[in-house]
Amino acid sequence: MKPRQPPGYGRCKKRCFGDQVPNPAPFLRGKDEGLPRFHCGRGGHFIGSLGKQLEALLEKGNIPMQSKPFFSNLKCRECGRLYPKQAIHVCDFDFGPLEAAYDYEAIGRVLTRQRIESRPHTMWRYRELLPIDGEPTVGMEVGFTPLIKADRLAKLLGIRELWIKNDTVNYPTLSFKDRVVSVALSRARELGFSVVACASTGNLANSVAANAASAGLKSYVLIPADLEQGKVLGSLIYGTQVIAIQGAYDQVNRLCSEIAGKYGWGFVNVNLRPYYAEGSKSMGFEICEQLGWRIPQHTVIPMASGSLLTKIHKSYKEFAQLGLVENTPFSVHGTQATGCAPISHAIKRGTDIVKPVSKPDTIVKSLAIGTPADGYYAIHSMKQTGGSAEDVSDEEVVEGIRMLAEYAGIFAETAGGVTVAGARKLIASGHIGKDDSAVLCITGHGLKTQEAIIGKCGAPRLIAPNIREFEEKVYAPDLAAAAF
Ligand SMILES: Cc1ncc(COP(=O)(O)O)c(C=O)c1O
Ligand SMILES: [Zn+2]
Repeated sequence: MKPRQPPGYGRCKKRCFGDQVPNPAPFLRGKDEGLPRFHCGRGGHFIGSLGKQLEALLEKGNIPMQSKPFFSNLKCRECGRLYPKQAIHVCDFDFGPLEAAYDYEAIGRVLTRQRIESRPHTMWRYRELLPIDGEPTVGMEVGFTPLIKADRLAKLLGIRELWIKNDTVNYPTLSFKDRVVSVALSRARELGFSVVACASTGNLANSVAANAASAGLKSYVLIPADLEQGKVLGSLIYGTQVIAIQGAYDQVNRLCSEIAGKYGWGFVNVNLRPYYAEGSKSMGFEICEQLGWRIPQHTVIPMASGSLLTKIHKSYKEFAQLGLVENTPFSVHGTQATGCAPISHAIKRGTDIVKPVSKPDTIVKSLAIGTPADGYYAIHSMKQTGGSAEDVSDEEVVEGIRMLAEYAGIFAETAGGVTVAGARKLIASGHIGKDDSAVLCITGHGLKTQEAIIGKCGAPRLIAPNIREFEEKVYAPDLAAAAF
């Protein structure tokens, strides 16, 4: 179908029904400055506004995804300037982070509970609210992990109702990072990248490596050299290039920014960050749907850069705005390890100024980001929703991992221990009411961070292979212990 064109405008050769980009955006300076534009984001091809015919088709929801302009622009979080949907992540004017923006009116016309429920059980059932133009091509099976009602753990932590969003079993690499990577790599392909990369504390590296392998993209993952074996092997196995940096995550990240600028690779959490970050919203969408289309009263979320927390907040607001859930009050709370808690400490100091941690010192390596890119916005999400933050010692992290395993049957990595132990503190301090309901976001699998618990959860009882040894060394002592 031919889009209508304003006079004097060229048509996008790719006919991709691109996004409106009002000036001043850098590539629009010149003779057309000041004119409202529609741009495909692929280098200088313009198209006009949507015609009535296309809108009618959209209403029926029966045209292919690439023709739907639901994902409209990148937008600066600070000044609101709009940018084309390219591999850019900061505003030229104030260095504010760019974020995906959508045409919610158009989405509202097609996205209903019934339509979502009719789709496959993956994160892509919310595809209108994710920032790609066409159909996903990477990670089509990711998401829709279980939401588990954890009554025994609720009792232990002293709260009326508790749910676990269990991303330890996310596909394919057992962490929530598969959500962000499936969006980032699907978009990377749309933008024409053949080399993808990331700066990672471990889980992101695993996910980029696996998803790039299945998509046939060359990948480089850059990590701090001191990561857990499970995280390192969990990348190497996919044949990616693993680059271990002698330094902390912030140094890894700085190097990646330099490489991205110089070589034009698609770094999922640098130049593709606006796309990557939006993938986290799917965790919030799923929580609402799995709770029977409602927003939970409290959500407890582990924080590294703070991005996941801000995106779960955004997902709840989007669902409420679209009328998919009732606009009920909710709070988002963040948790960190005390050895690297720049966001939690800022909240406790009552400020939104995040003091960087230059030398993180904790067993929770996945959350060890000393200069959190979204710390400021995470603080505002917590403040706006009446949420709070907590941080926990390494001993409490191990306790948290054990509580989750022994009372809910879920084996989480260290970040999960942070969330459970942090939630216990938030409940004890009254920031989460004892009569309330809460969801804990458990974001990564425990087999990846075995070092944290080796020697801290007992050892097998060794016996000879005969019934006498079993009775003497197992049955009789257990019977005696049960008698007390
Ligand atoms: C298991 C796990 N949970 C939570 C996070 C926090 O992510 P964010 O940087 O979005 O705050 C990470 C980040 O690496 C992670 O690996
Ligand atoms: Zn700006």
